[in-house]
Amino acid sequence: MPERDSSCKVKEEIEQLREEIEYNNYHYYVQDSPQISDAEYDRLLCRLEKLEADHPELITPDSPTQRVSGEVDETFEPVEHSPPMLSLRAIYQEAEAYEFDQVCREGLGVGQVDYVVEPKFDGLAVSLLYEGRQFTRAATRGDGYTGEDVTANVRTIPSLPLRLPDGAPEDLVVRGEGYMLTDDFRRLNDERERCGERLFANPRNAAAGSLRQLDSSVTAARKLQIILYHIAHAPGVQPERQWYVIRDILPSWRLRSPANWAELCTGAGEVVQYHRRLMAQRDDLPYEIDGIVVKVDRLDWQRRLGTRTRDPRWAAAFKFPARGALSRVLDIDVQVGRTGKLTPVAWLEPVQIGGATVRRASLHNQSEINRKDVRVGDRVLVERAGDVIPYVVEVVQDERTGEERPFRIPDNCPVCNTTAVWSDDEKTVRCPNLSCPAQLKERIRYFASRAGMDIEGIGERTADQLVERGLVEDLADIYALDKDDWLRLDKVADRTAENLLEAVEKSKDVPLRRFLVALGIPLVGEHVAELLSRRYGSVQKIMQAHEESLLAVNGIGPEVASSIVTFFSSSDNRRVLCRLLEVGVSPRADFYGAEGPLENVTMVLTGRLDRWTREEAAELARAQGARVTSGVSGNTDYLVAGAGGGSKLRKAESLGVEIIDEETFAEMLQQ
Ligand code: IVH
Repeated sequence: MPERDSSCKVKEEIEQLREEIEYNNYHYYVQDSPQISDAEYDRLLCRLEKLEADHPELITPDSPTQRVSGEVDETFEPVEHSPPMLSLRAIYQEAEAYEFDQVCREGLGVGQVDYVVEPKFDGLAVSLLYEGRQFTRAATRGDGYTGEDVTANVRTIPSLPLRLPDGAPEDLVVRGEGYMLTDDFRRLNDERERCGERLFANPRNAAAGSLRQLDSSVTAARKLQIILYHIAHAPGVQPERQWYVIRDILPSWRLRSPANWAELCTGAGEVVQYHRRLMAQRDDLPYEIDGIVVKVDRLDWQRRLGTRTRDPRWAAAFKFPARGALSRVLDIDVQVGRTGKLTPVAWLEPVQIGGATVRRASLHNQSEINRKDVRVGDRVLVERAGDVIPYVVEVVQDERTGEERPFRIPDNCPVCNTTAVWSDDEKTVRCPNLSCPAQLKERIRYFASRAGMDIEGIGERTADQLVERGLVEDLADIYALDKDDWLRLDKVADRTAENLLEAVEKSKDVPLRRFLVALGIPLVGEHVAELLSRRYGSVQKIMQAHEESLLAVNGIGPEVASSIVTFFSSSDNRRVLCRLLEVGVSPRADFYGAEGPLENVTMVLTGRLDRWTREEAAELARAQGARVTSGVSGNTDYLVAGAGGGSKLRKAESLGVEIIDEETFAEMLQQ
């Protein structure tokens, strides 16, 4: 039966591709030693995507194409842990490490014990289940007995094999840690700051927040890492030593282990040496660690020592002292950020932490102040994580005298006195007044920045002076400045003043999406601005949009919708906006009317076109509703090929994507 035959062949090829891709994932993400070029890897993935698109019945959840399901979990289902996920007893002093060794030796009745020492990754413990060598479930630790099902999110972590190689046990439960690299954490926070979103306090919170995302495509964008160090269940496998577990066994199953950072120590002396060494290197590591974990190497000895109620007798977390210090809260005041966010900040008795003098610490928001019960006069532990602003970890309750004063963020903006807007959970309070002077400097800078109105010459210093000299009281004033006004600024001579005037004038012609970004509406970054621009086409319509209408836009959720409505319901904001339009700022919606004839069409442009630049052609296509992407994939409908298209052309050919020339493209636009 020829049909059967060919479908068997396809199945075989699919299997082979998946195996090859898993193999290369492991070498790329885990070993950091790619075995093939990126292009070759792309080719494998494309081929697989194509075959799966033609044979959807052959798609399996462990296929490398299925990392991001795009499905949104409503809740996290509970998962029972068997065996339970234990925690570790914590020790802090070198003397305690010697005691730990002594207790182990006595318990075992031996004179000397070898230990495996590993970094204690500061992330979130996870347990993974493989069935029939397929990744089937991931759960958080929870209370150790019951965790939460975070399968869809963990599946997006690139270094995690979705399928184990031949030779790995059919069924397996392994445990480890999900975490975020410090650099990725900083990038994420920078991005969130730009969009006026809440910042994560440290990489661990960011990793935890990302793993507990309801939408796994968000997790996928967050770049999580995973490292595994414990085999909880593996029928037929009886490792003898933890050292073999991390050095040989887990890697042979393509699971990433801490082998490269771990060591084998004999006795407590060597453990203490390792602890000291790692503590000294702590700031140079690409991820956060909060100590080391000491484990008896021999697993039969681990079993003999057994566990107490919640933690094993054969292991301990030898923690580093917190990168923090004790100080006192002298006062609490409220800072007004660019988006009008009111952030409570503690003024501290100056202390040294990690080489810097710390005088202020963020208290984040009212709900955090309540949770930690921070009061003016309290003695507090202050920490710095990575490069983040210092924050108050906890109050030293024992030192309370009763004189301490509780604090509540005022109901009105401390600078302009406008009634502040509180979120229901008390986590964010905002001053909704666009002209609030404290916000104004930052706002002007943001307004003029490249992502906004792109006015060259208005940076931080200029913005500050414009406010301090009373030249600008709201954003629209920028357009009323004449040459004499500009000349009043430091270091501005004739020529500069003229350039500034010209740059301001030029900025009036602005795409709607950039104008929306420039306004600094909380939670409206470039992406949301584009959605709004496409859907409504004019700022007037956006101003009038009701919450229900905004919610109907794909990609806009309740928080964003309500933030937009609140912003435009402030009469000050409306006034400034009207003035901006009056002075001649004319935002134009270049993608308006996205429901055009090319809706649901995905296209890629390559090569040189005669009539337009590629960017122009892309804008034209988008204006008719097309999705224009940069890379050819199984989802691409058309490749528009101009002269000299290279690799994209070949990729489109290999995937069977329809290739059209400029002429055909132009006809499509005219339909
Ligand atoms: S071993 C019985 N090894 O620390 C085995 N834990 O305080 C228990 N952790 O919940 C875990 N790095 O989330 C182990 N190299 C490491 C670790 C580690 C981080 C975390 C883990 C655990 C917590 C206990």
